[in-house]
Amino acid sequence: MARVLLVDDELTMVQMVTEMLRMAGHEVFPFTNSRDAIAGLEAHTPEVVITDLYLDKTQAHGLEILQRARNLTPPASVIVITAFGSIETAVEAMKSGAYDYLEKPFKLDELNLCVQRALSYNEAISENHYLRKQLKKKYQFSQLIGTSTKMGDVFKMIERVANTDSTILILGESGTGKELVARALHFNSRRQAAPFIPVNCSALPENLLESELFGHRRGSFTGAINDKKGLFQEADGGTIFLDEIGSMSPMLQSRLLRVLQEREVRRVGENTPTYINVRVLAATNEPLEEKIKAGTFREDLYYRLNVIAINLPSLRERRDDIPLLVAHFLRDKQDSRTGKPLQITRQAMEALCAHAWPGNVRELENAIERAGTLCEDAVIQLGDLPPSLLRNLAGKGQAGATGDIATLPISPGAAALFPLHQAREGKPTTSAGGAGALPTGAPPTAGTAEVPLKDFLREQELVYLNRALAQTGGDKEKAAIVLGISLATLYRKLSEDERPG
Ligand SMILES: Nc1ncnc2c1ncn2[C@@H]1O[C@H](COP(=O)(O)OP(=O)(O)OP(=O)(O)O)[C@@H](O)[C@H]1O
Ligand SMILES: [Mg+2]
Repeated sequence: MARVLLVDDELTMVQMVTEMLRMAGHEVFPFTNSRDAIAGLEAHTPEVVITDLYLDKTQAHGLEILQRARNLTPPASVIVITAFGSIETAVEAMKSGAYDYLEKPFKLDELNLCVQRALSYNEAISENHYLRKQLKKKYQFSQLIGTSTKMGDVFKMIERVANTDSTILILGESGTGKELVARALHFNSRRQAAPFIPVNCSALPENLLESELFGHRRGSFTGAINDKKGLFQEADGGTIFLDEIGSMSPMLQSRLLRVLQEREVRRVGENTPTYINVRVLAATNEPLEEKIKAGTFREDLYYRLNVIAINLPSLRERRDDIPLLVAHFLRDKQDSRTGKPLQITRQAMEALCAHAWPGNVRELENAIERAGTLCEDAVIQLGDLPPSLLRNLAGKGQAGATGDIATLPISPGAAALFPLHQAREGKPTTSAGGAGALPTGAPPTAGTAEVPLKDFLREQELVYLNRALAQTGGDKEKAAIVLGISLATLYRKLSEDERPG
């Protein structure tokens, strides 16, 4: 089952092939002209493209589709259909990166087989690519912390769409990291050397925002004393990030729609448009569908922006990530007076893990910053946490000695990068003290020195190995590559685990 884009100017042919591919279980996007097909490539990111080489009576269009399909991320495999006897053009298509070609007339079975082969080929390529990319990109999203499955999905999406020019809508509650995601998208794209310009659409009244975005000509309104370049133009070659898009006025919404459609801007007080090459990212924490129903948000703009959406989970939907985030912010903040790294007691860590975090990561970050300023000897105690958090805790019974220091997740920076699942989830850890065990998903903790160092290290090692395994879907060969050890060493380390302890 794959996404297949099909383009041929013979309608009956398109209908037949579409039906056959749908019967074979594929999702098919049929087109009968190259212009719509080109738009379809961006919108549907197909895995396989089947195109007639002669489209709209010229070969250039078929070759253009081929090139654009190869430039998608990930590139689509292209099957080219050529007229009977035109072997030279087939060769040319193959040179330009087509996966295969079929001569007209062909049997539907032949085409079906060709699609199957193209798909297995795609898979082999992308696996290889995936591994290489994983090693290379290791530190590129290092600011975005999370190993929960939900954040894993976000990372995968970022990797998939960062290096395209697609407009992307980033959705999520306040404080979930929408701006961080926008930055990750820009700095992992080919536009990274050009400007990234964030604009908060709710911060300015309509007319000021208009001239900020589009610029104005001197004298076009009172106060316009000089010509001004708009932010769209400032962002030329790069990315503009329209934050809080939900609060944009209807007038500006229509102007934005025009920019997205025509790729050109008109300064206030000016008639000639300027062509711009800007990728648009937008974010909101408002339910746009409701705004559409209420008539305050344009539906056509919504569809333009929502070509690809990235949904950020709230922090309470990914509690597993709290210890990692805490570790990250503890390192980040340090003790304001001594510059010493901050620590936190297990009790305080548990309280953080149990809180609902309506303000999401931002609230957590602020809580740690505040506690870091209040605490003594660079150790955050339960009492240093915000009152709102402590009130909710009342009566829930905090076990464990108050002084125990929490063991922080190992290397949160590196662990944050991938959709690593907590492989040991649910299994009891060997942590001492029992009562103070961290919530599910937290790494094992030795808490006090009652656990021999050897066991502690062994446990950390196992978490690490299991993470790599979870990350590669249990594939030991890939896991060994990710870990930088031989397959034999991986087997040995894993079997040590099975020996009775
Ligand atoms: N996954 C994450 N890892 C590390 N820090 C994060 C993460 N998500 C958010 N933060 C931090 O939380 C704070 C809020 O993030 P950000 O400004 O991106 O949120 P937002 O979704 O844009 O919020 P708002 O809707 O209120 O504008 C920032 O300081 C950011 O660095
Ligand atoms: Mg924001």
